[in-house]
Amino acid sequence: MKIGILGSGIVGQTLGSGFIKHGHQVKIGTGNPGKLNDWLGISGTNGSVGSFADAASFGEIIVLAVKGTAALDVLGKAGEETLKNKTVIDTTNPIAELPPVNGVLQYFTRQNYSLMEELQAKYPQANFVKAFSCVGNALMVNPDIGAQKPTMFIAGNDDNAKSQVKKILDTFGWEIEDMGKVEAARAIEPLCILWCIPGFLENRWMHAFKLLKK
Ligand SMILES: NC(=O)c1ccc[n+]([C@@H]2O[C@H](COP(=O)([O-])OP(=O)(O)OC[C@H]3O[C@@H](n4cnc5c(N)ncnc54)[C@H](OP(=O)(O)O)[C@@H]3O)[C@@H](O)[C@H]2O)c1
Repeated sequence: MKIGILGSGIVGQTLGSGFIKHGHQVKIGTGNPGKLNDWLGISGTNGSVGSFADAASFGEIIVLAVKGTAALDVLGKAGEETLKNKTVIDTTNPIAELPPVNGVLQYFTRQNYSLMEELQAKYPQANFVKAFSCVGNALMVNPDIGAQKPTMFIAGNDDNAKSQVKKILDTFGWEIEDMGKVEAARAIEPLCILWCIPGFLENRWMHAFKLLKK
């Protein structure tokens, strides 16, 4: 498929390479195309770079991978009409421009209203699915952390969009837990806070969540 990635940071580049590895075509959207020269050099003919609007038009599936504070602005640049009826994989976390407190990130959202709910409300005809937000980029694509598959928690209102994301996560080596509708992002987004604490306190960044079940 054609994947349009909004975001030139480490997440956009890592997922871009992952999608190419699994046979997809990728266009990364950015306001600073020069940042992606190295990525283009390793991506071959299935990787390209453009504006946020270019990437959104290119993608049959969109990946949102920008700073949480910039998410609404970047979706505005992508364009409401372009996002209509498309699956938007939302990797973002609502991290505030404030330092962590004893290793605990600060968010700009409230506990009973997540960033993804805000994005979904603003773009009701796009189909947002929260995914990849609760793990570090180094483990997003086919993570190798022992015998068991880690769990990716997802949520979103549209079942067809979630089916698409589940297929992708399966090929990317994840066990999937579908937590339901968009409101579940209130529980998934804060997992990033928990995930980052061992990193900030002890410089441990190579872990992922697993839901143990009987
Ligand atoms: N890093 C991780 O391991 C990790 C793991 C899970 C989830 N996440 C989440 O994934 C998202 C991307 O993270 P990241 O670490 O790859 O990079 P990031 O530094 O959080 O975001 C980089 C992207 O944000 C855009 N951006 C930043 N400020 C902007 C502004 N004021 N206006 C417009 N665009 C702006 C940049 O635009 P340009 O392209 O124009 O420079 C770039 O595309 C974040 O929401 C993060 O919380 C990150």
